[in-house]
Amino acid sequence: MNQVTLQAGGVEAGAEAKLGSEDKTQGVYISTYGCQMNVNDSERMYSLLEMLNYQPVATPEQASLIIINSCSVREKPVHKVHSEVGRYRELKKANPELRIGVGGCVGQQEKDRLLKDVPLLDFVFGTDAIDKLPEIVARVKDSGQSVVSAKFEHQQPYHIETLIKNPGVSTFVNITKGCDNFCTFCVVPFTRGRERSRPLAHLVQDIQRLVARGVKEVTLLGQNVNSYRSDCGANFAELLKTLAEKTDIERIRYTTSHPKDFNQELVDIMQAYRHKLCEYIHLPVQSGNTEVLERMNRGYSRQEYLEKAQMIFDTIPGVVLSTDIIVGFPGETDAQFEDTLSLLDEVPYESIFAFKYSPRPFTKAARFTDQVAEDVKSDRLNRLFERHRELAFAMAKKYEGRRLAVLVEEYDQETGRLSGRSTQNKLVHFTGSEELIGKTVWVEIKEAFPQTLRGHMVLAQ
Ligand code: 5AD
Ligand code: SF4
Repeated sequence: MNQVTLQAGGVEAGAEAKLGSEDKTQGVYISTYGCQMNVNDSERMYSLLEMLNYQPVATPEQASLIIINSCSVREKPVHKVHSEVGRYRELKKANPELRIGVGGCVGQQEKDRLLKDVPLLDFVFGTDAIDKLPEIVARVKDSGQSVVSAKFEHQQPYHIETLIKNPGVSTFVNITKGCDNFCTFCVVPFTRGRERSRPLAHLVQDIQRLVARGVKEVTLLGQNVNSYRSDCGANFAELLKTLAEKTDIERIRYTTSHPKDFNQELVDIMQAYRHKLCEYIHLPVQSGNTEVLERMNRGYSRQEYLEKAQMIFDTIPGVVLSTDIIVGFPGETDAQFEDTLSLLDEVPYESIFAFKYSPRPFTKAARFTDQVAEDVKSDRLNRLFERHRELAFAMAKKYEGRRLAVLVEEYDQETGRLSGRSTQNKLVHFTGSEELIGKTVWVEIKEAFPQTLRGHMVLAQ
């Protein structure tokens, strides 16, 4: 196949595609790796591909277009892409019309190199080229050539509309993309580019449109949501206030926030609008040791993090915190790891997401010479989870007997059970009827487990 590189100027979201679209409906299968950001991107891809008459299918065998939406934050993604594409070799033999593409972090990182290394691939596109997908696929099909589109559109404003085929009760809304923080372990600034924010006025409109489609809860998404800055100058706290005041959305969540940008103004707004702004904050600490934090380029010390956590607990009673932790960062000593362990005693995280450090391409820490042995990392990770398990169980027990406001999201026909999340982001199961989906009900908690709660519905608070 010859190769074409697409330049800037993609397809506007929502625009009618004059892209030689097919008359006949075809199947598209997207294989998604990584975080919520990627899940959201895949949803967007499905919606955009509707322009070309593609409908989602459940298995690669049913598809005439397969896309691998890759992630490289913590995985060995290039190997994964190679092996997944390898699995499609027989499908491609049986159906020469099948087109296979790779998007996400690996597409961004590897660009044309990926096409050279994996000849079975038809196209590669980067994280800033999602909106060009209909154009890319049409080009691949019409020209018979392979296509690479992985340029960052640093100068383009971030103007998109949330595209989602079947929004549920709760949905995700991107507010920023990219990241300028350059934590030394993290590949995101290289795979997602410079940070940009969507204008506040667009977000108000976008969320109102989702409300009109039945959405009750939005989670605002960004790599570092609290460095949000609208073109009108509004910061993240002002964005939250505006969304709480000017939209009819019932609940607002957000992820991920950065401790260095967390301030009193933000927690005050959360407390003032707590009827809409859920009392749950994911506040990644990464390490409990100040020297390690410095080498990570996190921009705060252990003490400063503890002070921010205290400010949050003092301002928002009942708030729930969760965090991300990396163990075995280059040079991390046993004593420094102990500081991370002891942080769990000081900050009552109800859940933690912990990972063994893994070197990522382009990042500073990958070049540090004092890498920690794999078995030491595994041992530290186990100790961390073990310590948290003991604490989490006791924390969960405090919910027994309490009444929580639960937004009902799902009904299980077999068991007759409903499930939904409390404002503290606790998953709650209880018995009830399907019509309650989308409603907020009070549930009295009977039994608490570390990750889920079980209760029964009550009429009033
Ligand atoms: N190794 C291990 N964990 C990482 N994370 C990001 N980069 C790495 C890496 N190189 C974790 C951080 C971040 C979460 C999304 O992934 O904890 O907060
Ligand atoms: Fe990565 Fe740090 Fe940016 Fe988070 S803030 S995306 S960890 S560089």
